Amino acid sequence: MNARTYIGIFAAASLALAGCGQKSAGDKQLVVGYSQIGAESGWRQANTASIQSEAEKRGITLKFSDAQQKQENQIKALRSFVAQKVDIIMFSPVVESGWNPVMQEIKTAGIPVIVADRRPDVDPSMYVTLIGSDFVEEGRRAAEWLAKKTNGKARIAELQGTVGSAPALDRAKGFREVMARYPGMKIVISQTGNFTRTEGKIAMEAFLKNPQGRSANVLFAHNDDMALGAIQAIEEAGIKPGTDIIIVSIDGVKDAFQAMVDGKLNCTVECNPIIGPQLFDAVEAVVANQPLPKRIEVKEGVYDQSVAKSVIDSRQY
Ligand code: AHR
Repeated sequence: MNARTYIGIFAAASLALAGCGQKSAGDKQLVVGYSQIGAESGWRQANTASIQSEAEKRGITLKFSDAQQKQENQIKALRSFVAQKVDIIMFSPVVESGWNPVMQEIKTAGIPVIVADRRPDVDPSMYVTLIGSDFVEEGRRAAEWLAKKTNGKARIAELQGTVGSAPALDRAKGFREVMARYPGMKIVISQTGNFTRTEGKIAMEAFLKNPQGRSANVLFAHNDDMALGAIQAIEEAGIKPGTDIIIVSIDGVKDAFQAMVDGKLNCTVECNPIIGPQLFDAVEAVVANQPLPKRIEVKEGVYDQSVAKSVIDSRQY
């Protein structure tokens, strides 16, 4: 039985029960299982807060599990949601591959799946919808901004996100796609910082000890937290972030805006984590047997130092 069939049966059963004057599936407290990646970044913490507060607002029981950035923990959580017979499963897959067996088990159990934020490498019939950002476009936007800022001439150090994750793969792809139009833009060194501030700092320290890394005049970080860690490493090395090294990153967290106000970060491309309302709208649509598009994208912008001061107070995360 696939998710669509399940939803049809789910709705039909609800109506039949309601007709008999019994408690319908629509009347009972809805239970949603959510497997979150972890708390690796300011973005993720804002994302979790948005999901938890939205569930509470709508009176939906949320079984929330934090995987501490480990796929095996996410798979365990998904299996436990199946065992608990939750009504709907949501998850944000830490990496793209390795989900087929557990997704098959969920499908066999007839539980609809809503994917949040990151894409899993499975047949799209395994889930109802994927709600999240266009990571390729974010990578393109970072490169477009940089090309303008540097007149298409840059020696770039790149801090990549978690290896094998959709945002790391897509941001790298979008960035390189635009870079290909500018022969003067070159990536001279690239390493993962796993989307965390600590690992971003360690990777930047390693860059600064490497002749290629030291030759870079630009840093492209796949998220703000890694950029903020790198800024610490750059300052400790006696170099001026935002001046000696131009820095562009992705997310748009408040700390990144503060770093722009302080002149240490040059640009952040927004990746909006406040998707709780959209996710739970989708949950309610599934329960009401309403159709949903396979892909729902989140709207986002680009912010640099020129607007940071006027925008910082209105940032939600
Ligand atoms: O999947 C979204 C990415 O994950 C965010 O850019 C990053 O900060 C987070 O850890």
